[in-house]
Amino acid sequence: MMERKIAKLVLGVVFILTTSFSVHAVPWDDLTSKQLEDKLVSKFNEGEYSKKGADSCLACHKKSALVMSIFDGVHGQMNNHSSPMAGLQCEACHGPQGTHNKGGKEPMISFGSNGKLSAAAKNTVCQGCHNDSKQMAWHNGAHNLSEIACSDCHVIHAATDPVLDQLTTNEACTSCHSKEKADMNKRSSHPLKWNQMTCIDCHSPHGSMNESSLSQPSINETCYSCHAEKRGPFLWEHAPVTENCINCHNPHGSVNENLMSSRAPQLCQQCHAPNGHASRLVSELGEDVFGSGQGCMNCHSQIHGSNHPAGSMLQR
Ligand code: HEC
Ligand code: HEC
Ligand code: HEC
Ligand code: HEC
Ligand code: HEC
Ligand code: HEC
Ligand code: HEC
Ligand code: HEC
Ligand code: HEC
Ligand code: HEC
Repeated sequence: MMERKIAKLVLGVVFILTTSFSVHAVPWDDLTSKQLEDKLVSKFNEGEYSKKGADSCLACHKKSALVMSIFDGVHGQMNNHSSPMAGLQCEACHGPQGTHNKGGKEPMISFGSNGKLSAAAKNTVCQGCHNDSKQMAWHNGAHNLSEIACSDCHVIHAATDPVLDQLTTNEACTSCHSKEKADMNKRSSHPLKWNQMTCIDCHSPHGSMNESSLSQPSINETCYSCHAEKRGPFLWEHAPVTENCINCHNPHGSVNENLMSSRAPQLCQQCHAPNGHASRLVSELGEDVFGSGQGCMNCHSQIHGSNHPAGSMLQR
């Protein structure tokens, strides 16, 4: 069943963009992507699985500490009947051995991010077992559409998968997302740099139906899930707040206090310029209450909304 599924998807992949060579050379590196996928498909059709399972593979591969560490993780457990180790073992993921045991020249499915196999082909292996509701949004998610493989985030041959450990999730994500890495180390940020919070407090790594793969239906709902006091309702609302917190804040970090995307008064003057008292700032910056310290917030302190009967100017 699973073999047939894999064969179908592998065949379905027409354009293969990856042409780089892996750092760790394998004997099938001289095949083109097309030849490699064709070869793997025909191996699946022949279905020549080894009779000795993992023992056969380990005859040659047991010297690699990385290979052996599969037995420390969930996929190496024999006692879980749905685990690969209780079934086809290594070949559940790497495909049937065929004549690979004759010196290792015939290709196996390998998951290196710099190999020639498409992400879609690699992912079919995992999806053969992992196709529950938690994976529903994967298909239309940004990671899938950008040809990111499951194995680009998940490490299988390990006791603990770094992307699943709160202390290393952020590192795993920012290995690709360098802009967010820079942001989270700025003066003001969510406590990401100490790993008290992680990217997946706000984002769903497998995609979601929401913008930017957020786990909540909107940006504001995401923020309210922790900053409930900002939800209101307020007697006097401040329109940009109910509209979108990102009007003023950068969720990943900022050089300005309070994750502000820019500083008051400039921040406010994007929308409240140039008429009225709000425009006095420009020429008198730093010289009066308008420009000193918090500037506008010296008087308009209830910037997120006010419940005071006389709070229409967000002053109390
Ligand atoms: C006769 C020895 C031999 C046997 C048996 C063998 N292999 Fe290999 N395998 C090799 C050699 C040689 C290579 C290429 C060089 C390397 O990566 O070490 C290789 C490469 C691989 C690779 C690619 C490694 C990479 O760097 O991407 C995978 C995956 C693999 N083998 C899996 C298996 C599995 C699964 C089995 C059992 C079904 C198996 N091998 C059985 C010798 C063997
Ligand atoms: C659940 C799927 C799965 C199973 C089962 C599995 N592997 Fe792997 N294997 C992977 C993935 C994914 C990688 C890429 C590295 C990683 O994620 O740890 C990999 C990497 C490898 C490599 C390349 C290592 C290198 O030096 O770069 C070899 C060789 C290998 N596996 C052999 C085996 C053998 C032998 C077994 C059985 C004892 C096995 N694998 C079982 C998924 C699997
Ligand atoms: C033969 C079935 C099978 C295949 C193939 C398979 N897995 Fe799994 N996977 C399991 C089982 C069983 C578990 C244990 C949890 C469970 O029972 O659902 C698991 C657990 C996981 C977990 C959670 C780990 C944890 O520590 O909680 C991740 C992540 C995962 N698999 C990723 C992958 C990826 C990535 C691939 C492809 C390289 C893959 N799996 C291939 C059966 C499989
Ligand atoms: C962008 C990185 C990333 C990619 C790509 C990715 N995952 Fe995950 N995966 C995660 C993270 C982070 C978690 C932990 C989620 C949590 O704790 O809410 C996770 C959790 C899991 C789990 C265990 C819990 C669960 O939600 O079921 C499984 C199984 C899993 N992933 C399988 C897959 C498969 C299969 C693919 C490819 C189709 C994949 N993942 C692609 C990052 C990723
Ligand atoms: C192997 C590289 C890689 C890793 C690791 C990775 N990503 Fe991504 N991610 C991408 C690419 C490529 C895109 C699409 C282009 C872009 O928006 O930068 C993307 C897009 C996103 C987006 C935008 C989604 C959208 O719908 O616009 C979010 C959010 C995201 N990733 C979060 C994460 C999180 C959280 C993790 C860790 C669990 C993670 N990524 C790990 C490569 C990666
Ligand atoms: C406090 C919640 C929160 C946390 C934590 C968070 N993000 Fe985001 N992220 C958001 C919101 C909200 C957006 C949408 C921003 C927008 O539309 O401008 C977003 C957007 C993104 C995007 C898309 C950016 C773009 O330009 O389209 C990526 C990629 C991303 N986040 C990655 C990450 C990574 C990686 C981490 C962990 C280091 C992370 N995020 C942590 C809330 C968060
Ligand atoms: C998972 C919980 C969580 C979510 C979701 C969340 N925050 Fe936070 N936020 C925190 C924590 C924790 C702090 C740090 C509080 C502290 O240090 O006292 C914080 C602090 C802040 C601060 C003050 C930063 C500083 O430098 O003092 C701002 C502004 C903020 N969050 C805005 C947002 C916005 C906007 C969103 C939605 C995009 C959001 N938060 C989503 C947990 C969250
Ligand atoms: C019009 C600009 C603006 C918008 C939109 C905005 N904020 Fe703020 N936010 C501020 C300012 C300015 C501060 C600094 C507070 C001060 O100096 O009194 C701040 C501070 C904060 C703080 C830290 C201090 C505190 O009050 O707890 C949090 C948390 C916060 N905002 C969350 C949010 C959330 C959640 C949203 C969306 C519902 C949001 N903000 C929308 C301007 C804004
Ligand atoms: C993204 C645009 C935007 C930003 C940025 C913004 N505001 Fe507003 N603000 C509005 C809108 C729209 C209203 C509602 C105006 C109305 O109802 O006529 C409003 C209303 C107000 C009011 C109530 C007065 C009134 O006319 O109802 C005050 C006071 C105010 N803003 C101060 C500030 C301050 C101080 C900042 C900077 C921290 C700021 N605003 C940033 C768009 C913005
Ligand atoms: C010294 C206190 C003080 C400071 C500082 C201050 N305001 Fe005001 N603001 C007021 C008062 C009082 C009103 C009500 C005036 C009225 O009813 O005519 C007001 C009214 C407003 C209004 C609604 C009427 C209008 O003029 O459009 C906006 C918008 C506003 N302020 C924005 C700002 C911005 C932006 C800043 C910073 C650049 C700022 N204010 C700084 C006291 C202040």
